[in-house]
Amino acid sequence: MKKRLAIFLSGRGSNFINIHKNILSGKITNAEIVLVFSNNNDAEGIVYAKSNNLPTLIMDHKKFDDRKKFDQAIVDELSSYNIDLICLAGYMRIVSEIIIDSYDNKVINIHPSLLPSFKGMNAQQQAIDYGVRYAGCTVHFVDQGVDTGKIILQDVVDVGSDDDASSLSAKILAREHILYCKAIDLFCNDKLCVVDDKVIIG
Ligand code: GRF
Repeated sequence: MKKRLAIFLSGRGSNFINIHKNILSGKITNAEIVLVFSNNNDAEGIVYAKSNNLPTLIMDHKKFDDRKKFDQAIVDELSSYNIDLICLAGYMRIVSEIIIDSYDNKVINIHPSLLPSFKGMNAQQQAIDYGVRYAGCTVHFVDQGVDTGKIILQDVVDVGSDDDASSLSAKILAREHILYCKAIDLFCNDKLCVVDDKVIIG
């Protein structure tokens, strides 16, 4: 049975688009996108999803009293989709325990830094400001912290003396597109296993 993926996004959606293309081309196997969820009706990723006939769901977080009520409404909506994996792909909301507890070790995220360095927003600018020689990206399981979950895969890029946040972001994004697809393929083929709070591959 193919794993049923929900993609959560808030904006551009380049990781999502790339995941979709890799599923279509067979580079990611045993996976299908059954839902694209966004808190932002104007997200470019939603435009792509609709034009590719993928099911979409939009819920505006501003219409809910607090994060937990919003996340409970998401969990309620998701229940009929039988989701195996939630992929956060530029989803600009912190996910509460309401979602994490319902989808234990089934929510993954990609972050544009070598975690545990440079958590949170503007990770590429943080890397430039710190003066690191290497930066990169991390795919991790999502827990209740911000970018603190168990690491699945990482990739590294050089930081040149002429790099700024914009050029570094572009370098990292190219690697993100490859790394996220690898991680999703591993998950969907039952190659990821969590032992003693670490992710074992294979
Ligand atoms: C990526 O840099 C990702 O690492 C971060 O948000 C950005 C999303 O970009 N979590 P896109 O929407 O996938 O183009």
